[in-house]
Amino acid sequence: MTRFTVNNQPVQYRLDPATPLLWALRDASNLTGTKYGCGSGDCGACTVDIDGVAVRSCTVAIGSIEGAFVTTIEALSRDRSHPLQQALLAANVVQCGYCIPGIVMTAQALLRRNRNPSEDDVRRSITNLCRCGIYPRLTDAILQAAS
Ligand code: FES
Repeated sequence: MTRFTVNNQPVQYRLDPATPLLWALRDASNLTGTKYGCGSGDCGACTVDIDGVAVRSCTVAIGSIEGAFVTTIEALSRDRSHPLQQALLAANVVQCGYCIPGIVMTAQALLRRNRNPSEDDVRRSITNLCRCGIYPRLTDAILQAAS
């Protein structure tokens, strides 16, 4: 049995401790906002926040995060007035939307540790892949959310 906290709720998983967090969230907790892209830690679609750090959940075994605090896109989505969400909407950033949950989780972790990031900070932090090529608008929106 593996225990930790997801979106401020205690969870217990009777799964193999080697199960990737991504699949525990999606299949056992029905938190499907966290997306599967590559399964190898490259694309960032599966990014969640673990203890304040943006982490690619496909690379994290649930047995390795006993007692941790996990936050998923569902927790952020509840608050539509979040400055990051407002900035993304105002800049019309989203195209197909598949990568957006992972990008939002990465960006919120960046803004928490750096309230005044430079354009270069944003470009270096947001390494998530987006096939629609939203990067210029995305960078502008994150800088807007920080201001
Ligand atoms: Fe986890 Fe691509 S699905 S990084």
